[in-house]
Amino acid sequence: MRGLCFFLAAGVAPIIVVLAAPTVTGTSHVLPPSRILARSRAVVTPAPCQPISSPPPTEQESAARFEKFAHAFIEAKNLTEAFTYISSVYKNHNPFAIEDGPDAALDVLGPLWDTVEITPIRRTFKGEFGWLNYQTDLFGEIVDKYKMEDGCIVEHWDQGEVYPST
Ligand SMILES: *[C@@H]1O[C@H](CO)[C@@H](O)[C@H](O)[C@H]1NC(C)=O
Repeated sequence: MRGLCFFLAAGVAPIIVVLAAPTVTGTSHVLPPSRILARSRAVVTPAPCQPISSPPPTEQESAARFEKFAHAFIEAKNLTEAFTYISSVYKNHNPFAIEDGPDAALDVLGPLWDTVEITPIRRTFKGEFGWLNYQTDLFGEIVDKYKMEDGCIVEHWDQGEVYPST
């Protein structure tokens, strides 16, 4: 997965890499995987989220924006809408994330997100962090943690995240 494996469980990365791997014959050149994946992205990339800094959003306002992101991402499954909340400096902590940034994330998610069956379980927002918990047919149960700054999602973790208990 070039970049973000927003919720992608680990097993997906090798599949994508295999599918994307070009066959080397004769003198043909191997294209960087990102260019190959980009052809199948088929997702309109929105302009990156614009930080809201004067004044910065309250926790409630941030929570409301996180809810819009969550709805677009796991219920409407509209990546274009969801990514209007993703910062241009988005940092992804998934171990398969080769690159940071929204484009890398869409390279991974675009080709498969429509086909993943998602059952939302719960979500919450506290301080500057949001959590999503949902079940998928392909990757099992997922807990994603996000950091939001100035109304934009700037960071994501999905390795052994623990859903907050309170
Ligand atoms: C997805 O969201 C974008 C941006 O809000 C919107 O323009 C588009 O119509 C939506 N697509 C669908 C299928 O609802």
